[in-house]
Amino acid sequence: MRFLQFSCLCLCLCGCTMTIKWEEEVEKKLLEYMSHSSTTGNEAEFAGVVVKDLEENGWTVYKQTIPGTDRFNVYATYRNSDPKHVKVLLNTHLDTVPPYFPPTQDEKNIYGNGSNDAKGQLAAMVTAAIIISNTDEDVARALGLLFVVGEELDHVGMIEANKLEILPEYLLVGEPTELKFGTIQKGALKVKLTITGQAGHSGYPDSGSSAIHKMVEVLNDVQKFQWPCDATYGDTTYNVGKITGGQALNAWAAHCEADIFFRVVTSVKNIKDLLAGLVNGRANITLLSSNDPVILDVPPIEAELDQVSFNTDIAYFDAKDKVKGKYLFGGGSIKNAHSKNEFIPKVELHQCTSTLVKLVHHLYSNHH
Ligand SMILES: *[C@@H]1O[C@H](CO)[C@@H](O)[C@H](O)[C@H]1NC(C)=O
Ligand SMILES: *[C@@H]1O[C@H](CO)[C@@H](O)[C@H](O)[C@H]1NC(C)=O
Repeated sequence: MRFLQFSCLCLCLCGCTMTIKWEEEVEKKLLEYMSHSSTTGNEAEFAGVVVKDLEENGWTVYKQTIPGTDRFNVYATYRNSDPKHVKVLLNTHLDTVPPYFPPTQDEKNIYGNGSNDAKGQLAAMVTAAIIISNTDEDVARALGLLFVVGEELDHVGMIEANKLEILPEYLLVGEPTELKFGTIQKGALKVKLTITGQAGHSGYPDSGSSAIHKMVEVLNDVQKFQWPCDATYGDTTYNVGKITGGQALNAWAAHCEADIFFRVVTSVKNIKDLLAGLVNGRANITLLSSNDPVILDVPPIEAELDQVSFNTDIAYFDAKDKVKGKYLFGGGSIKNAHSKNEFIPKVELHQCTSTLVKLVHHLYSNHH
């Protein structure tokens, strides 16, 4: 098959020509990328490293500055190809959550902040793009690479990137999904329940009413309720992440609040309505924030599928409903991202790269 011809990638390094297996190349690239700090807000120096890497490999880079800052998004096409009309857009983010720590590695894994979220995805995308441009220039010309700032905080990079008016036929966003393609990016609904009670001496039940006791009943109902679930899109899940209330052990609680975070597979409206019906006036419900789920596409290659319960830049890409296919995919696991144990298995870094090469070829030929 055509896309297998990259088993050996010839690269010119330091002026001397040598043959490096692309598996080694993507590992080296990730370690290099991780040696530059790029916590949210401080992406500029690292973004410059990525720009240099792309330019040295024949990619034309457009730097898009976030107004009023030194931060910029990186958008690249191959040898001046039309930036607005790429067929396939690969996107991930440049920033990582603080604090910064340099990478380490052993036989199996590369460790450190950003190893899977998302510099592993970035290294795989750049390596895949180089493999493609070294083997099939027409395919490379149909490919765009968009690397944005600010994903971990306020999505300012992707929001700004919409001004580039890129309208691809296919979009793939790189995040650590354990090499499974997301069928859905679950939505989010954050609400606060508030109950007002009446203070009084806790030895005398008639002297008041406890907002905490009432809240316990409401939350018990929330836990017993059969929230919507779906074979493809997964279960609605929730977390009562914070409860506050009460004045003293010997007083009925005059006030109680509980914050609940729902991961939504149907729609925000659906969950809001179900919650309102369940609570039925026993608590006041305040909406803190919400966003609807994004239904993703199944790729035209054999792949494992899964549901994704974290927020990504996909929801912020304005043209997401105009594309023929949108995918969420990457190596490493969200379960250790943002933690002191963050890592990416080297084998997943390799597989992520080869899957990207294979998928881009498929999407390109679907078009022809
Ligand atoms: C909801 O808020 C109103 C207005 O503040 C208050 O009168 C009412 O007691 C609250 N409902 C509950 C169940 O606490
Ligand atoms: C980043 O990695 C270091 C070292 O492993 C760790 O101490 C720190 O907690 C990590 N940062 C975050 C945000 O988890």
